Amino acid sequence: MVERETWATRAGFILAAIGSAVGLGNIWRFPFQTATNGGSAFLLVYLVAVLVIGIPALLGEFVVGRRANINAIEAFNKLGRPQWAFVGAIGVLGSFWTLSYYSVVGGWVLRFIYGFASGVVLDQPQTYFTDVAATGLDAVALHGLFMLVTAGIVALGIEDGIELATKFMVPSIVVLLLGLAVYAFTLPGSGAGYEFYLSPDFATVVENWTTVVPAAAGQALFSLSVGFAVMITYASYLSKDDSLPADGLTIAVSNSFVGFLAGLVVIPLLFAAGITIGGEGSLVSGSGGAGAVFIGVTTALVDLPGLAARVVGALFFGTVLIAAISSSISLLEAVVSYLVDNYALPRAPTAAGLGGVVFLLGVPSALDTAWLTWFDGISVSLFLPVVVLLVVLFVGWELGGEAVDELRQGTSGGTLLPMVWLWSLRTVVLLAILVVVGLNFYDLFL
Ligand code: PFF
Ligand code: NA
Repeated sequence: MVERETWATRAGFILAAIGSAVGLGNIWRFPFQTATNGGSAFLLVYLVAVLVIGIPALLGEFVVGRRANINAIEAFNKLGRPQWAFVGAIGVLGSFWTLSYYSVVGGWVLRFIYGFASGVVLDQPQTYFTDVAATGLDAVALHGLFMLVTAGIVALGIEDGIELATKFMVPSIVVLLLGLAVYAFTLPGSGAGYEFYLSPDFATVVENWTTVVPAAAGQALFSLSVGFAVMITYASYLSKDDSLPADGLTIAVSNSFVGFLAGLVVIPLLFAAGITIGGEGSLVSGSGGAGAVFIGVTTALVDLPGLAARVVGALFFGTVLIAAISSSISLLEAVVSYLVDNYALPRAPTAAGLGGVVFLLGVPSALDTAWLTWFDGISVSLFLPVVVLLVVLFVGWELGGEAVDELRQGTSGGTLLPMVWLWSLRTVVLLAILVVVGLNFYDLFL
């Protein structure tokens, strides 16, 4: 048997996981979710969801992956619970599913980079998205290009592909966003944006808690890349001397920080241009729909003097592209690692072949944004919470003490915190995720 790869360094794993977490979810979804669900009161619910469900569940996936040292489906067999392998299978399927439309959005990002670099987007800021970028054969082709890049990186493997790429990508995202946030701050009129972004609207949250709470929880989990077998897979390439709690915390804090930072770019930009924020905040929705950030940011930039609009726009969407690719590779890796581990298939052709199938699955989304909306809804409201619920059940009630042992490996701490974690998984986390699943089912089917 060929020896299984591992991360070359601990920082390599952390950066890859941050790369997976930081993505279209942060730069696109998060600011609008926040803005339309009650500003910083939503932020508060989101942060609570990260703490109460997100981090414990992330650690749960880490425990499963590292203990089993194998892909997310086989992991359950290896841990002696083959009857749970279906959980890994749903997760892997969710990855596959999510990547199909995530990549279509990635294609739009490519289109906007070109649109800004060439300047053509500035001739029709309001209509470029719907009339030019969103659908049609070009959208299909750019979705294909995005998948090609994704598969290319995954084909190179863990150390020489994913680890090497994310080592450069993650710091670039942070630097670029910081620069853009400072720039947005200097624009006249941006002040109202901060006020809007940061003034808590508790009334909205309280009145609409049945939708706001699942939205915040869904955003928190999606954002952390929990619930799609991805973090199980990434942790399976870890060695025993990493501290899972420390790494998990680093990853979660970095992800929330970048989300917040992205808000400090997008919201002030829009306010400086006098654009008000309304409508629904899902990845694709109502009027502006999937185009919200594309149309909004473009309109916000159009009046800048000289080349500024082209440069700032290309940099902004360049940043979004880097974030999107460092996430898409993790979604593909979750599927590739299963085929490579279990059927001893060669990595590069497997990545290419799977990339091709994901491409085909995404074609409907590239032809009609209504399909994309539907794929996104199934992904975030169905696949994700169901898998998280099952993983929490598995780790809390099935692995139990074994999970505590695994969590402690590589840490110098005692059993107290791991026991608190275990009991919270068994009770609070389980209850919270049950409520979210319940509310989502109610929304989706009733
Ligand atoms: N966390 C990514 C984002 O916020 O854009 C999206 C994502 C990547 C979700 C990987 C799930 C996943 F497994
Ligand atoms: Na994220």
